[in-house]
Amino acid sequence: MREHDVIIIGGGLAGCRAALEIKRINPSLDVALVAKTHPIRSHSVAAQGGIAATLKNVDLEDSWKAHAFDTVKGSDYLADQDGVEILAKEAPDVIIDLEHMGVLFSRLPDGRIAQRAFGGHSYKRTCYAADKTGHAILHELVSNLRRYGVQIYEEWYVMQLIREDGEAKGVVMYQIFNGDMEVVRAKAVMFATGGYGRVFNTTSNDFASTGDGLAMSAVAGIPLEDMEFVQFHPTGLYPVGVLISEAVRGEGAYLRNSEGDRFMKNYAPNQMELAPRDITSRAITLEIRAGRGINLDGSAGGPFVYLDLRHMGKEKIMSRVPFCWEEAHRLVGVDAIEQPMPVRPTVHYSMGGIPVNTDGQVRASADSLVEGLFAAGESACVSVHGANRLGSNSLLECVVYGKRTGATIASYVENRKMPEFDEQSYLNGCQQRVRNLLDKSEGIRINQLRQEFQDCMTEHCGVFRSEKIMKEGLEKIEQLKKKYDLIYLDDKDNCWNTELIEALELKNLMIVGEIILASALNRKESRGAHSREDYPNRDDANFLKHTLAYYSAAGIDINWMSVVINQFEPKERKY
Ligand code: FUM
Repeated sequence: MREHDVIIIGGGLAGCRAALEIKRINPSLDVALVAKTHPIRSHSVAAQGGIAATLKNVDLEDSWKAHAFDTVKGSDYLADQDGVEILAKEAPDVIIDLEHMGVLFSRLPDGRIAQRAFGGHSYKRTCYAADKTGHAILHELVSNLRRYGVQIYEEWYVMQLIREDGEAKGVVMYQIFNGDMEVVRAKAVMFATGGYGRVFNTTSNDFASTGDGLAMSAVAGIPLEDMEFVQFHPTGLYPVGVLISEAVRGEGAYLRNSEGDRFMKNYAPNQMELAPRDITSRAITLEIRAGRGINLDGSAGGPFVYLDLRHMGKEKIMSRVPFCWEEAHRLVGVDAIEQPMPVRPTVHYSMGGIPVNTDGQVRASADSLVEGLFAAGESACVSVHGANRLGSNSLLECVVYGKRTGATIASYVENRKMPEFDEQSYLNGCQQRVRNLLDKSEGIRINQLRQEFQDCMTEHCGVFRSEKIMKEGLEKIEQLKKKYDLIYLDDKDNCWNTELIEALELKNLMIVGEIILASALNRKESRGAHSREDYPNRDDANFLKHTLAYYSAAGIDINWMSVVINQFEPKERKY
């Protein structure tokens, strides 16, 4: 059996940053990182607008406390405030550290790192590399992985978390290139597998964002926290759903409805286009519902609104947000210098995830931890985003909590023996799963079932929700789960069988989707991104608490966990 001191699953920002921290602290540790794509193709590479930190290069009066307050208010007071304090306080140092690693941030004329406005932030504190910030950071982190001697397993798909006697002991993984399956044991296992955007039919996420770490944790008996909070980014490019960065509005673009009105004045008169995402996404959805959306021929009553950059001028557009200009031009034929872009909300980010404490240790319940298991980044829930994340706080979370989790792991493994278990039984179980998929020669095609499932989630758990709609969604999912056993694959080969990987991913998507719906049904209030038409108000008396959802084949049990409130008392949220 293969073994490493530490195995990290996920090649994005959180996983890479954790791996580097472990090697910086103790170069003798054997650290492996597994990624189902090449690490530089992890979804972090697609992050556009920036990373928040109170460097005070533009707004001198900014402070970590202002950043923390904006984050807590943005979270609709569901964020754990101890975690937010760490996030905001450690932000400036992690940015400087990234710069020292070689990350090329955009600059002010005097050479300091540039900072721009972002939604819900009261100062210009978002550092950026044009609109390719994730790309700039991830490339340097991956180069540094090689420099520090981290073993990279690229294009391996992790199928199972091995958890016995409550402890994480290793994983089973499958090499996509040749179909080899291996069991790996480790003193510490870390999930940094990112989000689950592909649960829905329109998302800014890449095809690999299938919630694998979340599903593997849930199947291993670990609860998932606050999964009802799904972030819709207001400006997905219509109809494809890819991200048009909030940086575009941060640099001055307007949202307009079919009447040409900057409608955000009716929803967030002070912050306008730079209101937090939950508010802006609801506003766009309501405009469209009211018949003030736009059709492709420019007439009213259509499915999108306009993002208007024209007044910004060519020089600013091409220097600050060139990638967004290119996306609109390449994908929908819009030249944003001359024409407005068609946009509507698109699924973007998971506020919930694998529950962890502020050292990245996974929780087994509200008051116990899982030995040997850690998580960070979008797959984890610290929770610093609560019910709604502010833009540019997610790259920050990956770097701050990736680093902290790495530091925790480096000392944790010093005192831990390599775990023992029966390798063969895990190998047999996973090989059987693969055989079950390969052996069938007729039934249902994966893409048909995936589309039905994604349509179901989109229809029954969208920007606005209600008990009736969600119950119907859960009933449909029961039917779709039965269909999973009927899927068959055309490709029976061991070499690059991406159809097999899609089948395994679909199982994970369906587990995660069911947990999202069940968690959403149980939260009978509206808070942040969770907006219930049957319970339109926030209800602090009954629901100022985190959801913990425990999955089993028989159903989902919901439990609750208290919120850490130590600085900012909950208030009404106005922008
Ligand atoms: O709009 C954006 O550039 C996205 C940033 C984020 O999600 O933090």
